[in-house]
Amino acid sequence: MKIDGKSWRTIWPDRASDAVCIIDQTLLPHRFEIRQIGSLQDMVHAIKTMQVRGAPLIGAAAAYGMVLAMLENQADDHLQHAAQCLIASRPTAVNLSWAVRRMQAELAALKAEARIELAWREAARIADEDVHLNQAIARHGLGLLQRLAAEKGRKLNVLTHCNAGWLATVDWGTALAPVYAAHDSGLPVHVWVDETRPRNQGASLTAWELGCHGVPHTVISDNAGGHLMQHGEVDMVIVGADRVTASGDVCNKIGTYLKALAAFDNGVPFYAAVPSPTIDWTIRDGLREIEIEHRDAQEVATMQGLLTDGSVAAVHLLPPGSAALNPAFDVTPARLVSGIICERGVVRPDSLHALFEQSLD
Ligand code: MRU
Repeated sequence: MKIDGKSWRTIWPDRASDAVCIIDQTLLPHRFEIRQIGSLQDMVHAIKTMQVRGAPLIGAAAAYGMVLAMLENQADDHLQHAAQCLIASRPTAVNLSWAVRRMQAELAALKAEARIELAWREAARIADEDVHLNQAIARHGLGLLQRLAAEKGRKLNVLTHCNAGWLATVDWGTALAPVYAAHDSGLPVHVWVDETRPRNQGASLTAWELGCHGVPHTVISDNAGGHLMQHGEVDMVIVGADRVTASGDVCNKIGTYLKALAAFDNGVPFYAAVPSPTIDWTIRDGLREIEIEHRDAQEVATMQGLLTDGSVAAVHLLPPGSAALNPAFDVTPARLVSGIICERGVVRPDSLHALFEQSLD
């Protein structure tokens, strides 16, 4: 996507320096800084601290983490060590373990001396595939938005939660990909952006990237969505996902479930935009079988922002001694999901498996 007319991806190789470049998302929207990641340890740190985040992007970042590991040492035990460290860095988004296992399988089949070159190629392939999957999601989602716009006969209001735009992927985004396609095709669309406490991915990242692309949007507090739905101000909800089960349960950023409940109660269609590496075909029951990451309570107890001296800093919100709890994701049961927008089309959650059946054999 473009920032001030220049095209960017969220991650790219810098082979001359044996490094990988990322946009540091912990500083947005206040500062746009590129970080050069030069070791396995630094990539694990970037994923844990959410300098890179979003399910598809941490998949690509982990793939590049495997490249950095191979640059350090191509032996079998280091390959295994790298895979373990990267998979443990964030547990919920399945894209991460999917990408690491794919890299591991390709690399383990080769002699040590051939591993670096193949690792660069395979990580680049994973990154490019993500872009193509998201472009397909954009096309299918655009069809949905066009039909809804024809029905309503006016500008559409789409509500989204967290950041599932290009910053959460290698490019284009998942939930926001159809919105960008709609905007670019001249279909009038406005986005309600949930702030998404505690990390504020909506207020900091979604608002920033929509603004860079010129898409009309309004940031709302996380508690406002239900009220807007009751008053007919939301035509559709589109969210991304960190893991979707074979039966169509959608695990996404904490608070997504409450939006799905409100959408269900108000007859507002609720869609998840999901590239296939986000689907975990090995599980069916999202509530019982998905590990929900619990992050540091400090993320709830503090809030980050721009100080008047131009520095980015955290301020404390809670009285001393108050406990805080920080589950990072929740599960929306398939029964609350109107449809899944994936690269093969838009389906009801219970038809997801059938859509991919042939390629799963
Ligand atoms: O904790 P984060 O910011 O990595 O969580 C990201 C989300 O929950 C996104 O909605 C999800 O990864 C979909 S990304 C296209």
